[in-house]
Amino acid sequence: MLDKDRIPKHVAIIMDGNGRWAKQKGVPRVAGHNAGMKAMKKIVDHSDKLGIKYLTVYAFSTENWKRSVEEVSGIFGLLVKYVNSELQELIRNNVKVTVFGDYSMIPEDAKRSLEKTLEQTKDNTGLQFNIALNYGGRDEIKKAVCAIAEKVKAGELQPEDITEETISAHLYTGVHNYDCPDPELMIRTSGEIRLSNYLLWQTAYSEFVFTDVLWPDFTPAEYEKAIEEYQSRDRRFGGR
Ligand code: IPE
Ligand code: IPE
Ligand code: MG
Repeated sequence: MLDKDRIPKHVAIIMDGNGRWAKQKGVPRVAGHNAGMKAMKKIVDHSDKLGIKYLTVYAFSTENWKRSVEEVSGIFGLLVKYVNSELQELIRNNVKVTVFGDYSMIPEDAKRSLEKTLEQTKDNTGLQFNIALNYGGRDEIKKAVCAIAEKVKAGELQPEDITEETISAHLYTGVHNYDCPDPELMIRTSGEIRLSNYLLWQTAYSEFVFTDVLWPDFTPAEYEKAIEEYQSRDRRFGGR
């Protein structure tokens, strides 16, 4: 049973296992990504129902460009399909969509659909749905360091005034109006037990839940199980 008073504010998910799901079914990898999009849609809806304020999903990493052109364009094609078909419902549900990552180099049609979605949902006050796209934790920290160095160079900031908050404020999670707290819970599906360059700074004290379920099979019931597991943890933050 979920404790409604201890629902995490921010959940981060590494949606992994689409390829293995497709292999098991004997279908192309892109069919696995399509099934993954359907699972994602249900998790977005369910996050909203549970009263989670921020959901951040890893949709495409800075390392995923190593995959075949066919798979990469398939993933972006599906993303366009998702945002186009879901936009009205996202608006109806008061969901604010954001992107964590530099999406300037993604295909034009994907970029246009995405920008339309960001624009039309930017004032929504319900669930904030962050899509990590062309995202890498090291890339994010590198970009923050560059932005801070520019401010120091311009004389706007003294090195001795740089705090952890300064760094947090220059990450995707910290930029004005995307502002979201560190995730209390990080979930990874498919049995892999690693971060794969996801939210390196923000997960310093997150609770990690790993499940063997492949992402396309990750249902709202599995999601609730992961949150229950989180609720059973004793979070000490270095204290006693
Ligand atoms: C996750 O599924 C989706 C993306 C990385 C885009 P994978 O495609 O990594 O699935 P596996 O790990 O090969 O099963
Ligand atoms: C992480 O999964 C990225 C996404 C889920 C988008 P990967 O499948 O790319 O990670 P590795 O290669 O197993 O570490
Ligand atoms: Mg994978």
